[in-house]
Amino acid sequence: MLQFLFNDARRDEDLPAGMVVLDYVRRVGRCPGTKEGCREGDCGACTVLLGEPNGARFRYQAMTSCLMPIGDLHGRHLVTIEGLNGPGLNAIQQAIVDQGATQCGFCTPGFVVSLTGFLLGEAPLTEVEALAAIEGNICRCTGYVSIVRAVRDMLAALRDKVPATGDRLPALMALGVVPPYFAEALTRLGPVTPLPPAPPGAVIVGGGSDLLVQQAEALAGQPLRLLSHEPNLRGLRERDGDLYIGAMSSTEDLLRSDLARAFIPDLEPTLRLVSSQLVRRRASVGGNIVNASPIGDLTIMLLALGAELGLRLGEEFRTLPLARFFLGYKQRDLRPGEWIEWVRLPAARRSYCFHFEKVSRRRYLDIASVNTALSVQLVDGVMRDATLAAGGVGPIPMVIPAAAGALRGQPVSAAAAQACAAAACAAVRPISDVRGSADYKRLLLRQLIYAHFVELFPEACPVEALC
Ligand SMILES: Cc1cc2nc3c(=O)[nH]c(=O)nc-3n(C[C@H](O)[C@H](O)[C@H](O)COP(=O)(O)OP(=O)(O)OC[C@H]3O[C@@H](n4cnc5c(N)ncnc54)[C@H](O)[C@@H]3O)c2cc1C
Ligand code: FES
Ligand code: FES
Repeated sequence: MLQFLFNDARRDEDLPAGMVVLDYVRRVGRCPGTKEGCREGDCGACTVLLGEPNGARFRYQAMTSCLMPIGDLHGRHLVTIEGLNGPGLNAIQQAIVDQGATQCGFCTPGFVVSLTGFLLGEAPLTEVEALAAIEGNICRCTGYVSIVRAVRDMLAALRDKVPATGDRLPALMALGVVPPYFAEALTRLGPVTPLPPAPPGAVIVGGGSDLLVQQAEALAGQPLRLLSHEPNLRGLRERDGDLYIGAMSSTEDLLRSDLARAFIPDLEPTLRLVSSQLVRRRASVGGNIVNASPIGDLTIMLLALGAELGLRLGEEFRTLPLARFFLGYKQRDLRPGEWIEWVRLPAARRSYCFHFEKVSRRRYLDIASVNTALSVQLVDGVMRDATLAAGGVGPIPMVIPAAAGALRGQPVSAAAAQACAAAACAAVRPISDVRGSADYKRLLLRQLIYAHFVELFPEACPVEALC
């Protein structure tokens, strides 16, 4: 029995845990304001708020409901656009109306929910952050200019009335941005019975952002192990200088983590290249690795950072370098039922220079044609150690030892960058597919490796020296 708060009322549902939340909301919950667009996390029309208990209240985040199994709702608060409506238009809705930021209206509930999640969250109330909150919401009608104006209006109306930091819920309730029942949401949910342990053979579900795109229907009938209910798998911690990333930490957790930002230079702009905020909140680090896509962005970054995996199967625990995890296309060194518990970044890498590059058909919100990351240990101008990882140029996300070998012991120079790129291009075997021909992907890899050097060492490797 799944027990959760659905808008203002508790629900006890005997439904398969793998049912998609979007279907539940529209077909069982009869709340059609949540729209069905792509069912692939791309359009944001299905955005809902998911509240997780956090002390005396829920902590809300906007997410795509098409990538969420209803098992994830257990003990939580699901809010759709219907659950945000009050007697009149709130400040977000009023700004949208005033600026003509809605036409056919199909996307509008998604924008309102995303912006509500932004206001309820912890990000600063800036235009940059507000626009980042709606980066995963697509509108086919307005051309976005009116939406940007509406966001500005919303911020102007609320900024001085809502605390910049801390709990904004009381102020937002007082202003009618969220309805009063939010104050008693935990009480309305009431006691919840813990879910029973998953049976042997259950399908492991992280955020579901790969699984629900690939096999949503098949999942509905299967026993699931929902990692979102295992808090020990989430979060980042430091031990002896090493960074341990819980496998269920989301990409957005990583992007917002001070520990991770201290470890990996320029992490935030780098991770903003990965999907959208709505998807990043679901997309876990462990899921990115186990999905074993040759172009998984997190995987490529972690490979270059010398990551190690902590793998568990019941009482058995082992560690494995991430570079040895991928055995062939979508084949991994992972036993049935085994799971990634954490990913460790070794302390030594803290002193390395790190850079990630990705080319996709769109700069944001798209998966890569080719991606690559480089980490380099620089001592007195000499590259003592290096790791180059690349995706989209072979059947697995790969480390290319020959490329790093071309750098070791060399001073930073355009010639060293060229030798590294030549070694990498000779070592890879890309295939031609919808994302480009094999020759094009090799060319991309070369240019992206040059980009690593131009970005990391602009004086020693200016663009002109590499053209
Ligand atoms: C719209 C959209 C945009 C995307 N953009 C990008 C992008 O820009 N870059 C990118 O790299 N990816 C992108 N992705 C892919 C996806 O979001 C990531 O691969 C994500 O990190 C997968 O994590 P998840 O938790 O959702 O995995 P899930 O879908 O839950 O699981 C994926 C696989 O991993 C297994 N699994 C999950 N966690 C564990 C664990 N701890 N131990 C063992 N097995 C586990 C599952 O059984 C499943 O086989 C995108 C996806 C969507 C839908
Ligand atoms: S329906 Fe498009 S993101 Fe969910
Ligand atoms: S108003 Fe029509 S899709 Fe946005």
